[in-house]
Amino acid sequence: MAVHLDVKQAVDEFETLLSRLHARNLPEFFELVEERISRERNGSGGDGVPVVVKGAEAGVETEEASNSDIMMHSIAEDLRSMPYIPPDAVVKSERLFHPTSGEFAALDPVTVVSVDKFLYEDDEAIDEMCDEGMLSRNYCMDCGSHHTAPLNFVSHSASLLQLKFMFQKALPDLAGKTVVDIGSRLGPVLYAAYFYSSASRIVGIEINAELCAIQEHIIRKFALKNRIQIVTADVCTKASVLEEADVVIMNNVFEFFAPAGEQISIWKFLRRTLKKKDSYLVTVPSLEKSMEALQLSLDLPSWVKHLPLDHLSMWMQEEEAREEVRLINLYQIL
Ligand SMILES: C[S@@+](CC[C@H](N)C(=O)[O-])C[C@H]1O[C@@H](n2cnc3c(N)ncnc32)[C@H](O)[C@@H]1O
Repeated sequence: MAVHLDVKQAVDEFETLLSRLHARNLPEFFELVEERISRERNGSGGDGVPVVVKGAEAGVETEEASNSDIMMHSIAEDLRSMPYIPPDAVVKSERLFHPTSGEFAALDPVTVVSVDKFLYEDDEAIDEMCDEGMLSRNYCMDCGSHHTAPLNFVSHSASLLQLKFMFQKALPDLAGKTVVDIGSRLGPVLYAAYFYSSASRIVGIEINAELCAIQEHIIRKFALKNRIQIVTADVCTKASVLEEADVVIMNNVFEFFAPAGEQISIWKFLRRTLKKKDSYLVTVPSLEKSMEALQLSLDLPSWVKHLPLDHLSMWMQEEEAREEVRLINLYQIL
């Protein structure tokens, strides 16, 4: 005669059964139980319920996963957390041999890293390890070191986006006005002022003669001479040009190009010279930041008014682009 168990008794028996099973047989056992439950449900008209694999398939939230998948992911997670399994999953007692034939033979062993696809199945997990310094995607081509870090890129020219923002969004109509770019380098500010504004006179002051020659070449080639002029000089010797300016642009002009002491005397000169009422200063970075870096006080509130800018213009959808444009500051001389 069949003995009918209540739910509590059934659960106890199930637990006992589980404790008697070897861990390696658990996944198969769960799969069979799942199939059994599914048959039971279908027989009574119920549907299978989609299971979401927690944190396993990033971005695939509704993927149907079997309990076997869940078990596999749990095992991988468990292995990942074992302190004696290093990030490359090659344990201490192992000795690996770089192949001398086959597809890997041609690779320099220094450029080959073991990445365990069972433990770290998606690129996101690998990226995380790279971020935490546990793994490197790069190696030094000179010495083979994997101890590498990304370089910082610094531009010594304004970007096209920044230039369009300056002349199309930040500044008012410049018809009949004079624009001066301090440190005009390759001349992008001058060309942008030419094409994106109605400024009648555009002057670049550049201390480096070679850079001035390059700008002159472009001005000739693209026939921009009617509005653009290059002055080869140290800005501190060109007070008369600055005094006529309606707009003065200073894009990271001195930071990389002069020692701190020299920068301080240039700023003091600019503070004395740039005083045309209601004229504009466009700066990257802000004057406040430049002063702070040099621990210099130019009594900014008595010199300029920092004007608000709408950095969220519609043609800047990407965060990276907005960041670039957010660096631009506009001031009006009091
Ligand atoms: C960061 S670049 C500016 C580039 C350009 N204005 C732009 O936005 O694309 C700075 C330039 O300022 C020049 N410069 C530095 N000190 C100067 C000075 N005292 N007088 C004139 N030019 C200077 C440098 O030679 C360099 O070409």
